[in-house]
Amino acid sequence: MTATTTSGTTAGVRVAALAEIPPGEGRAYVVPTGAGEVQVAVFHHRDGRVSAVDAVCPHSGGPLADGQIDSCVVVCPLHLNTWDLRTGASTSGQAPVRVHGVAVDDDGGVRVTPR
Ligand code: FES
Repeated sequence: MTATTTSGTTAGVRVAALAEIPPGEGRAYVVPTGAGEVQVAVFHHRDGRVSAVDAVCPHSGGPLADGQIDSCVVVCPLHLNTWDLRTGASTSGQAPVRVHGVAVDDDGGVRVTPR
C-alpha cells in the first residue's frame, strides 16, 4: 500500500516517526500480528508517500529495506531483482512480496497494518 499523510489515522502499529526514515530510503521493522510477527520494509518516498512490503526478499532473503527505490519499484541490493511497491508483484520474474497497509498519523508516526 502507498499512502500520504492521513488525518485521524490510528489503525495499525506505530513503528517509527516518519522523520526517522530519510526521503528516498527504507527501514525494516518487526511488526506484531495476531499469529506472531512479520518483518516489514517501510519506504519514505521523496514526494512524501510511504510504502510497506515484506522486508525479506523472496529470492534469497536479501534486505529489501536497503534497496533502491523509484516512484513505485524497489530493487533488492543482493541480486537486483525488482518488485512493484503498489502490488507486490515482481517485475523480474520472482515470487511476489506482500504489500502491507501503511499510513502516517497526525503526529508524524508511521503506522503499519500487516496483511
Ligand atoms: S536476495 Fe533479493 S534478489 Fe536475490
